[in-house]
Amino acid sequence: MTTFRDLKLSEKILHALERAGFEHPTPIQAQAIPPALAGKDVIGTAATGTGKTAAFLLPIVERLAARPGRPGPRALVLAPTRELAVQIEEQLERFGKTLHVRGALVIGGVGMGNQTRTLREHEVVVATPGRLVDHLQQGTARLDGIEVLVLDEADRMLDMGFKPQLTRILSRLPKVRQTLLFSATMAGEVADFARAHLRDPAKVEVARSGTTAERAEQQVFHPGQHEKLPLLLALLEDDELSTLVFTRTKRRADKVAKVLQRAGHKVARIHADRSQAQRRMALDGFKDGTYRVLVATDIAARGIDVAEIGHVVNFDLPHVPEDYVHRVGRTARMAASGRASSFASPEELPLLRDIEGLTRKALPKVEVPRDRATFQAELKRSAEAQASPGAGAQPAGFNRNRRRAAAHNARRGGGGGGGAARASGAASGGGHAARGGGHAPQGGGAAGGSAKPKLVGSWGGKRRR
Ligand SMILES: Nc1ncnc2c1ncn2[C@@H]1O[C@H](COP(=O)(O)OP(=O)(O)OP(=O)(O)O)[C@@H](O)[C@H]1O
Ligand SMILES: [Mg+2]
Repeated sequence: MTTFRDLKLSEKILHALERAGFEHPTPIQAQAIPPALAGKDVIGTAATGTGKTAAFLLPIVERLAARPGRPGPRALVLAPTRELAVQIEEQLERFGKTLHVRGALVIGGVGMGNQTRTLREHEVVVATPGRLVDHLQQGTARLDGIEVLVLDEADRMLDMGFKPQLTRILSRLPKVRQTLLFSATMAGEVADFARAHLRDPAKVEVARSGTTAERAEQQVFHPGQHEKLPLLLALLEDDELSTLVFTRTKRRADKVAKVLQRAGHKVARIHADRSQAQRRMALDGFKDGTYRVLVATDIAARGIDVAEIGHVVNFDLPHVPEDYVHRVGRTARMAASGRASSFASPEELPLLRDIEGLTRKALPKVEVPRDRATFQAELKRSAEAQASPGAGAQPAGFNRNRRRAAAHNARRGGGGGGGAARASGAASGGGHAARGGGHAPQGGGAAGGSAKPKLVGSWGGKRRR
């Protein structure tokens, strides 16, 4: 079995890994770290939740610590969302601190002053493209000392949405550098980009692009559009798992969150129209269990690492099949298990076919529990609310939850006023049965592959839109 020591990492990094509880390298780490340490370009594909972040951060830290260079940024990591950039920077701090390799977090939605200072002094820039371009325009970032470029979620970073910013950033980077691309899905522009910008890359493919998380148990329901909310409420009743719900639009996320909240669930929402402070509070509250449910757009689909998410619900199917793989990958990370339920209404069947084509798996169908009381009550409530908007009918389960909350308050000697009953969110009052386990470090067997990169070229398929 490969060990971190076999990968020729320095003692200081080995200590940091030990402190982080990383006992053995995961397969992508075992296979991508050696070529990256040797200075080669790398294209790394491995399933969600299998440690790709450390696979690119460890070689960077090692390289920068071993070879002192000019002051200022020497490595640049680009990520598609602020939350993911924050997370990568936090992981960098875990490994880089003792080696004096520091990160400058450059993301939108917060002030630029502090970023300008760290951009001058720190060695690794972890950025979302838009804000980095702002700094380039204002002359507060210099990238001419960059030795290593990482595109995390490379296929997303290279799609049309980021193209203009990425082109501007690339034009400011030295031509001679090391480039590392990582993702669980490698489609679309990746092959073209690699041909144009990488030199003889090591293609490390632990899992074929599009492979879903191994321990995620997946299922699909076929509700009508109007049955999706009743179905979600019924599913939330089945367990107390931390649940991440994906909707197609920001407005739908708001609507779903509102209904869940009225039904007594502790729920937060995250999408691009919310302020950075609201986004951070939502994610932090979801991580620490304040909220049992997080309703999100695809902004939360990629890279976000919350150990205890037990259930991912695709309230709407994603339009791009790759996003399905990433959404599902928010659960069942590392050694954890999890469940993913997808709601495919008749209009969404073509999307389901695309997903099944990409993942090369037919999703098992499960019957919509139409005879469940919660389902029927919510169906009735929403029909009534539609017939007479503003009538104020409460979502299914609301009254029962209020009663439960009042009883709970009475037991605790609380006043039991309406406000307290609402705030207590009785539906998730039992705490999260699934929480607290955390990640068991990767077991031995999984890391048993050879340290030699596997040269496989099947990652270059065209994205279907
Ligand atoms: N060798 C290891 N031993 C134990 N835990 C690890 C190891 N490597 C990574 N982890 C942990 O596993 C979790 C998942 O890692 P990471 O976020 O890097 O996955 P990923 O492959 O980038 O997933 P995604 O495709 O969703 O972005 C993190 O909590 C990380 O700290
Ligand atoms: Mg990742």
